[in-house]
Amino acid sequence: MLPQTQLGNTDLRVSRLGLGTVKLGRNQSVKYPEAFELPSDDDARTLLSTARDLGINLLDTAPAYGVSEERLGYLLRGERKDWVICTKAGEEFSRNYDGNGNSNFDFEASALRLSVERSLRRLRTDYLDIVLIHSDGNDSHLIHHHQVLHTLSKLKQEGWIRAFGMSTKTLEGGMICAQEADVVMATFDPAQADDHKLMQSCALNNAGVLLKKIFNSGHLLAEDQTQKTANAIIEQQMKVIFAQSAVNSAIIGTLNCQHLRSNVECALLGLAENSKLA
Ligand SMILES: NC(=O)c1ccc[n+]([C@@H]2O[C@H](COP(=O)([O-])OP(=O)(O)OC[C@H]3O[C@@H](n4cnc5c(N)ncnc54)[C@H](OP(=O)(O)O)[C@@H]3O)[C@@H](O)[C@H]2O)c1
Repeated sequence: MLPQTQLGNTDLRVSRLGLGTVKLGRNQSVKYPEAFELPSDDDARTLLSTARDLGINLLDTAPAYGVSEERLGYLLRGERKDWVICTKAGEEFSRNYDGNGNSNFDFEASALRLSVERSLRRLRTDYLDIVLIHSDGNDSHLIHHHQVLHTLSKLKQEGWIRAFGMSTKTLEGGMICAQEADVVMATFDPAQADDHKLMQSCALNNAGVLLKKIFNSGHLLAEDQTQKTANAIIEQQMKVIFAQSAVNSAIIGTLNCQHLRSNVECALLGLAENSKLA
């Protein structure tokens, strides 16, 4: 079973891996190596119950992930309290008949508030555990000009959300969030000095850290590799990310229960390796 950890300064406890749910709701204009069909309700239910049995309690969704929020709302009926749900605001996705859907962004306070209200309805819940600004890449402009963190902080004060932050795309945005928000969602590449700086700042401020795209949306695990080679890469990746004391959880997207199991096994090895070194 995967262990859980306190998410930064929040009172949320999250599993060391989370399940990313892009692939539950959107298969147009995505960056995965292979095309895929959205899973049936039965397959999605099996995936969620496998995740829960493995100790995963964290689900990451967003209005930008097509029908992901609605499907989770339907599939998690009666189980809401078992899960920590992270969703986002600021970006949404529209499917197109030609197969190339597109995203729209709106970061005005009124739009963020409407987005949170809609997420509550779609997820069939009266609170959201984590809401992140779904950045369009202009992190600091969103923070300074649109005051996005201030808007989410008000929604937290009103009791609709328990923690807030941003899925960041820049060092500057991440550094501000580490100080002013509860949670930073970021990528981590050990070769990038900026990524180390961000992790240090998050550790210093005890900000919650969720990593995204740790397999580079699957491109790190090239198709022609055997499962054994893929597992060696995954294990190495887990050692690298869990060596960062700031990291609370890595969000991995998968539709495949066997992949989910391998990811959990490799995470346990990566966590054990780092506890030996500590
Ligand atoms: N906020 C943002 O801006 C943002 C952006 C991107 C992602 N995210 C979040 O982060 C999550 C993860 O990112 P991601 O889904 O783009 O990419 P990822 O987790 O880096 O990689 C997912 C891909 O890797 C494959 N995979 C997973 N485990 C595997 C295994 N053990 N063996 C072989 N292949 C494996 C999956 O295919 P299978 O389905 O075949 O396993 C999937 O295509 C997303 O679902 C989303 O929740 C957030």
